[in-house]
Amino acid sequence: MQNNKGRLKNVFGLFGAGGHGRETMDQVKSLIKDQAIEIDLKNTFFVESKKNRKIINDVPLISKVEFINLSAKNKFFNISISDSQTRQKVANEFVSVGLKPFDIISTLSDIGSNNIIDEGAIISQFSIVTTNVKIGKFFQLNRHASVSHDCIIGDFVTFAPYATCSGNVIIEDGAYIGAGALIKQGTSLKPLIIEKNAIVGMGAVVTKDVKENTTVVGNPARLIKK
Ligand SMILES: CC(C)(COP(=O)(O)OP(=O)(O)OC[C@H]1O[C@@H](n2cnc3c(N)ncnc32)[C@H](O)[C@@H]1OP(=O)(O)O)[C@@H](O)C(=O)NCCC(=O)NCCS
Repeated sequence: MQNNKGRLKNVFGLFGAGGHGRETMDQVKSLIKDQAIEIDLKNTFFVESKKNRKIINDVPLISKVEFINLSAKNKFFNISISDSQTRQKVANEFVSVGLKPFDIISTLSDIGSNNIIDEGAIISQFSIVTTNVKIGKFFQLNRHASVSHDCIIGDFVTFAPYATCSGNVIIEDGAYIGAGALIKQGTSLKPLIIEKNAIVGMGAVVTKDVKENTTVVGNPARLIKK
């Protein structure tokens, strides 16, 4: 695992070994196999808060402290936790100790032209970002989910599988879009806005703006929680 100076070259840690973590690790393995990233599978780890050493799908699980203390040239990470507050907390902690966010963009995703995607994205297989989209930090675009033209997506936003966002929509920081939800298009003069930390339930059909810290479900989407 270590080179002849006892120091690893590049290591990668994926925080979170749950369902999405294991799916994401498969993407990392594909990127390594395709030589799209310069990290050896031997230097790739699952990371969780508590010490609980085991092997998950052939990848060792180590604790956060063990990962932070590994001796390596570059330590890269990403976070496969869908909860945006937890994701933000882990990202802040890891960046503050010098770890580097690492994008995981599936070679089976389709990313168009003139998009700006900030650091720490996980963009899964068969997902689509069309064009002229601006996306913040640590975005998760799960399998078969899509973002269309002229959308503006904040930091720590999550799209579950098959969530579909039409064009000219603003999704603010920390919002969660459930599986299979559909979001109606806005216009350049009047974008549809999903405010900060809002939750859109699975299968919802969003036709109007969604207020900050609220949960909406159904077709058409209606408020169930503040
Ligand atoms: C919307 C959501 C966040 C609400 O979760 P919750 O706060 O735990 O709410 P509850 O399960 O207590 O449900 C509250 C009510 O809303 C209804 N409800 C919950 N989710 C719903 C949905 N997606 N569509 C329609 N109704 C829904 C429940 O049936 C319940 O109705 P009742 O009060 O008449 O019994 C959750 O149900 C959801 O859709 N999460 C996204 C799941 C997802 O996409 N997972 C992807 C995994 S990769």
